Amino acid sequence: MILVKSESEIELMSEGGKITGGALKLAEESIEPGMTTKALDSIIEKYIKSHGAKPSFKNYNGFPSAACISVNEVIVHGIPGSRVLQEGDIVSVDIGSYYKGFHTDAARTFAVGKVTEEAEKLIRVTQESFFEGIKYAMPGLRIGDIGSHVQQHAEKNGFSVVRDMVGHGVGRALHEAPDVPNYGREGHGIRLMEGMCIAVEPMINQGTYVIKTLSDGWTTVTSDGKLSAHYENTIAILKDGPVILTLI
Ligand code: CO
Repeated sequence: MILVKSESEIELMSEGGKITGGALKLAEESIEPGMTTKALDSIIEKYIKSHGAKPSFKNYNGFPSAACISVNEVIVHGIPGSRVLQEGDIVSVDIGSYYKGFHTDAARTFAVGKVTEEAEKLIRVTQESFFEGIKYAMPGLRIGDIGSHVQQHAEKNGFSVVRDMVGHGVGRALHEAPDVPNYGREGHGIRLMEGMCIAVEPMINQGTYVIKTLSDGWTTVTSDGKLSAHYENTIAILKDGPVILTLI
């Protein structure tokens, strides 16, 4: 069942979204070669807690950390640990925070120092594909209108769209209906309604879209070992179009 949010509920999500967005901004400013992913996670967790929120991912289905930190060929759900970020890596940071009864969810991929032109392009196109997709997050249009435009932008730039993981509704639960695929057909899927809050989150690969999950049960990688990037925001669909809640 899709839970449509009231104006006052969206206002609370917007407050919480600023914390999620702020944590990502701090992550961006903090990332440097030589840092462990665990150290980055600690910075993020402190920020979320010091702003009166809780990290949504910590203990979610047993996930051990505040942030998912996914390096290079890791698509999502990387577990922070002793891995040291190196100049030339790309690192995806995915964060959720829970504030005043609501979750917000967002992710970015950052370059560590200087990265290859191709890696830079992957990061840029992934972000662009999010913005292409949400142009269609309008009441009366359909979920496939968002996904098809994410997909078209990624594919026309020579990249592929992960199929096995998708965006989602977000609110009192971290993952709510509906699924929000980053692919699809225009005019297909559920109809978008005013008050829906969804996390649109293209996961875009340099090579194949086929993925595999490592034996830790979380870490999801590209099956060909090529790079992957992620860009996500929680958005509210209002009468006149989308409002991004997690971008500051
Ligand atoms: Co998400």
